[in-house]
Amino acid sequence: MKKAWYKELSVYQIWPRSFCDGNGDGIGDLKGVLGKLDYIKSLGVDAIWFSPLYASPQKDFGYDISDYRAINPDYGTMEDFKAVLDGAHERGMKVIMDLVINHTSDQHEWFKKSAAGDPKYKDYYIWRPGKGKDGKRPPNNWMATFPGPGWQFNEERGEYYLHLFAVEQPDLNHDNPAVREEVKDIMRFWLGMGVDGFREDVITYISKREGLPNGFPIPIMRGQEHYSPGPNIHKYLLEYRKVAEEFGAVQIGEAPMMTPKNALKYITEGKDQQLDMMFQFQHMSADCIVVSYLPTGFKLRKLKRVFRRWQNKLYGIAWNTNYMENHDQPRVISRFGSEEMRTESGKAIATIYTFLSGTHFVYQGQEIGMLNYPFKSWDDIIDVASYCGKSMMEKTHLFSKKTIFRNCAYASRDNARTPVQWSAEEGAGFTTGTPWFHINPNYTEINAAAEEKDPNSLLNYYRKIIALRKEYKEAAVYGRYKEYLKGSGKLYVYEKIGEDGSRLFVVANMSGKKASAAKVRRIIPEGARRVAGTYDGSLADFMRPYEAHVFVVAPEK
Ligand code: GLC
Ligand code: CA
Repeated sequence: MKKAWYKELSVYQIWPRSFCDGNGDGIGDLKGVLGKLDYIKSLGVDAIWFSPLYASPQKDFGYDISDYRAINPDYGTMEDFKAVLDGAHERGMKVIMDLVINHTSDQHEWFKKSAAGDPKYKDYYIWRPGKGKDGKRPPNNWMATFPGPGWQFNEERGEYYLHLFAVEQPDLNHDNPAVREEVKDIMRFWLGMGVDGFREDVITYISKREGLPNGFPIPIMRGQEHYSPGPNIHKYLLEYRKVAEEFGAVQIGEAPMMTPKNALKYITEGKDQQLDMMFQFQHMSADCIVVSYLPTGFKLRKLKRVFRRWQNKLYGIAWNTNYMENHDQPRVISRFGSEEMRTESGKAIATIYTFLSGTHFVYQGQEIGMLNYPFKSWDDIIDVASYCGKSMMEKTHLFSKKTIFRNCAYASRDNARTPVQWSAEEGAGFTTGTPWFHINPNYTEINAAAEEKDPNSLLNYYRKIIALRKEYKEAAVYGRYKEYLKGSGKLYVYEKIGEDGSRLFVVANMSGKKASAAKVRRIIPEGARRVAGTYDGSLADFMRPYEAHVFVVAPEK
């Protein structure tokens, strides 16, 4: 397995609006980040990925960009950003920016000029005349990812534009070479400043099939076979790759609906490689049917199957990402663990994914075990995707109002976006002002200050296993994956085997019930050393709920 700096990273993701407010206006900002750099470093992570910091009307909280070269004034200035960049670098941490180029905001200058028919910009977006006698029908039957139609009529231009996300997020036309040059300039702008790489938003969607044919008549994401991926995806990505290579930057592509087989077309190492790694979503369906607003309860076998496939299929030829949360996913303890056994299940979840081969990601608040928000009514929910999910479910006439609310609340991206709970003080230590969004009322108990003081807290456990991942990196980061007891619905047991002969074992009871440890004990070799676990003490005859362990065997001499 080829070694590389980006493979060894543990990355901390910041969703800036809810991370830390430095000026008391209730909105997270760069000054707040600056004050927390030592905290972030204390986790043992090596990089920060910032969800979009750019100027944006915030219809999709920064994923609708109106100026790629400006910092959102709510978050501070370019000087503030440079201070954070320098501060991170001084502490030995890389900085990864979000690159959102499938679409812009409808408030971007390009879109305004495009709508007005300005010759330079008229083909920057995907415009088509309407269909039907009066031209009042959309150009094709495609739907957006945020469920709903994929087209919007624009009065000024008298045509429809394609938007695969919100109405306010028109898709850029990457078939236009001028658009691709703009993208490269944006990349050079940030990389030239010293940024170390990009997380590339829905990057597999940027090429659309010529002629934009109708999609298969399915009720969600209709048309996706024509853009996920489209015919020119590899060509365009190779162009963008060249720019990244000029700077030695890392590229992490977000790739909805990605399978290992298709992923290899982008990330196989070698001269045609277009991305260093991808965020796939398959393991995020371990508690639902395809989409998170159709929950089923957590199914460990499903999770294991996905991890197994990705670990095995990429081994030696391509690279994984490992994550359990991000700004689009509800809190993982509330999904795959148990809120009642927050610390225990949080530790077990942390254990099972940290030692998989791949770059490791932790989302803000995950390390202190933040939970889903107790939404009471639709008044509490602001996420545009939740409202699209609601209207989709309503249209099927299959669900009661109560079920629709319950499912959407469980799935809402808002769960990940409540302010980080730093302390038990008013404002949760997030702000001295009025917070822009609800703070989870559990902040008086669940907060970083309390976790800091408790040696057995989840926070201190994350620190420990992040350090172990590095210490035993031959096995943990680069090792070959070997799984045991695959059929078990309670136990997750795997081994990582380093090329130097080192071995690392992860053993976890992922259920809320006790489980016999007899079979597990036969797997762990004599002389293996226990280096971490949910509870004190080693494996006994029975494993307690969410009991997890990490064992290591030193390399053969
Ligand atoms: C990605 C982002 C998500 C955003 C969407 C549209 O999935 O992670 O937050 O809404 O793309 O940009
Ligand atoms: Ca602020």
